[in-house]
Amino acid sequence: MYHSKISGLGYYVPENVVTNDDLSKVIDTNDAWIQERTGIQERRHVIKGDGDTTTTMGVKAAKAAIARAGIANDDIDFIIFATLSPDYYFPGPGVLVQRDLGLTRTVGALDVRNQCSGFLYAISVADQFIKTGMYKNILVIGSELHSTGLDMTTRGRNVSVIFGDGAGAAVLTREEDLTKGILSTHLHSEGQFAEELSLAAPGMGRRWVTDIIADNDPDDISYYPYMNGQFVFKNAVQRLAEVVGEGLAANNLAVSDIDMLIPHQANLRIAQFIQHKFQLPDDKIHNNIMKYGNTTAASVPIALTEAWELGKIKAGDLVVLAAFGSGFTWGSAVIRW
Ligand code: UT7
Repeated sequence: MYHSKISGLGYYVPENVVTNDDLSKVIDTNDAWIQERTGIQERRHVIKGDGDTTTTMGVKAAKAAIARAGIANDDIDFIIFATLSPDYYFPGPGVLVQRDLGLTRTVGALDVRNQCSGFLYAISVADQFIKTGMYKNILVIGSELHSTGLDMTTRGRNVSVIFGDGAGAAVLTREEDLTKGILSTHLHSEGQFAEELSLAAPGMGRRWVTDIIADNDPDDISYYPYMNGQFVFKNAVQRLAEVVGEGLAANNLAVSDIDMLIPHQANLRIAQFIQHKFQLPDDKIHNNIMKYGNTTAASVPIALTEAWELGKIKAGDLVVLAAFGSGFTWGSAVIRW
């Protein structure tokens, strides 16, 4: 039996900064509303034609993580890719990473469909493979390209001002010291609320593709994400607090043992609610939604990488990751760095 540790981290965001004022030129919104309700000041959007996709951004983040892990591309034994915005409906982006990193080995590539908690699900799966000794190095990516699929009209404003593009990646590596690395992961779902935060099309279950094409309806909003914002908010604060508590309890740890909490960057108000509930000082939580918006599966690895780059995470620290989102799905990971 082994543990797994995070041996390398990386992130990538497109250069193009979109401010709240930029959005207010195309949508009936304003900087004050967005900052007050979400904390977001700006986000990144790809520029049409620049070539950035969910996969290419993920590969850029992955290259940084692999370099920091000090391994070669071909040392990767398995790839796990979490996203809600894949380049293709199928195949998923995992195989595209196997191709674009130029791996000579035909390693397995798994795609995770758990939206905002996708990265938590992905590292939990990676952790199980490493614990059993099956794999030594697993590349885990969370990447998201939202801007190409948002309703950039006033109709979609409660969703479209929130989401941003970006990617984060981690290399998980076998750790023989069982006091270090990932101590536990905790995953949950509550499918009765699947439609409260969802994107219906082009799901095959409800409408035939031939009908969608025949309808050719410019007012078909089923291709845009839908969110029951206040309902999601209430569930997010409750479930995030629960799952952090669950992770601590499973390891006989207390809130006072946390050195760094990295919450999913859904809304600064949600993160602040959790911080307040646990009475965490400002230096024990890292938020960057102000700069990047909500990047769903990429948000935790981007924030984790940034916190690590800023020197906010040191060897021996207790780091807790937590996320909540569409599904509903949520999860946490407790890590001794
Ligand atoms: O990452 C996955 C998990 N996601 C989350 O956890 C997100 C959770 N939800 C939220 O963060 C918040 O619900 C939002 C930030 C999405 C929305 O904030 P809210 O306070 O729940 O606003 P609301 O949707 O209830 O709308 C309040 C008002 C409405 O106007 P009226 O009906 O009161 O006149 C909206 O039309 O704000 C209006 N509104 C806006 N106004 C300016 C909604 N979006 C905007 C906007 N700009 N972008």
